[in-house]
Amino acid sequence: MHLLVFWLFLCHDSLAAQALKSRAVPPGDTPFRFCNDTKNADIFTIGLIQLDPKPVLIDQVFHVNAYGNFSKDVPGNSTLKAHGVYENYHPGHNFTTNFCDYVVSIDQIGNDQCPPKKGPALVVFEGFTSPWDLPFGHYSWRFEAFTPQQERLFCVEADVCLDRDDDDPRNGDTCPPVKERGSYIRELQHFIANR
Ligand SMILES: *[C@@H]1O[C@H](CO)[C@@H](O)[C@H](O)[C@H]1NC(C)=O
Ligand SMILES: *[C@@H]1O[C@H](CO)[C@@H](O)[C@H](O)[C@H]1NC(C)=O
Ligand SMILES: *[C@@H]1O[C@H](CO)[C@@H](O)[C@H](O)[C@H]1NC(C)=O
Ligand SMILES: *[C@@H]1O[C@H](CO)[C@@H](O)[C@H](O)[C@H]1NC(C)=O
Repeated sequence: MHLLVFWLFLCHDSLAAQALKSRAVPPGDTPFRFCNDTKNADIFTIGLIQLDPKPVLIDQVFHVNAYGNFSKDVPGNSTLKAHGVYENYHPGHNFTTNFCDYVVSIDQIGNDQCPPKKGPALVVFEGFTSPWDLPFGHYSWRFEAFTPQQERLFCVEADVCLDRDDDDPRNGDTCPPVKERGSYIRELQHFIANR
């Protein structure tokens, strides 16, 4: 399925460039937005972001699909930096990992291994909302990736309220009810159909 939608995506080749110029929020209806200082110098121009499942609950494995274009090959020792603030308790927490540690798949013409190469790509990140590390409540995240030479790959931010499913007795009372879950395949088909 990924590969099929990826080919469809490639048909809209100027998508990523348009998204960067005209929108602070990448298409895909997720909590993600570009950082204020996202610039054309960033190596990965993101055209569409998806979250699966949506919304993400506590104690859940989730995937982030990022469709876009790399302006050059990504070096092996690139890093992903996450900065998280919980319920406005500054300065929050910082984590730095190898860029590829959270990448579970790469879809590119002639490449399916992390790190990605120059050209259009679908990069799938995987995360886990550990119930031991993440109490319910509001989080502000900033995710930035850099090459070893400190060239930036991308920067996105997200404000999310993390909780469990609606009828779980361990829920807090700070987040709105979850109600309906999104389907990223359905949304992607809708997105392509409306272009
Ligand atoms: C980003 O820009 C918007 C609009 O100019 C502003 O409201 C917001 O506070 C800025 N965010 C950060 C983190 O600087
Ligand atoms: C991807 O980026 C390269 C280098 O910046 C550019 O030449 C190419 O046209 C871009 N491809 C797409 C599909 O936007
Ligand atoms: C990554 O960094 C390590 C330690 O600095 C080095 O040994 C290794 O060769 C580097 N790998 C790449 C692909 O640059
Ligand atoms: C995390 O990094 C941000 C800037 O990237 C900084 O403002 C903040 O103080 C850092 N937090 C900690 C706990 O080091």
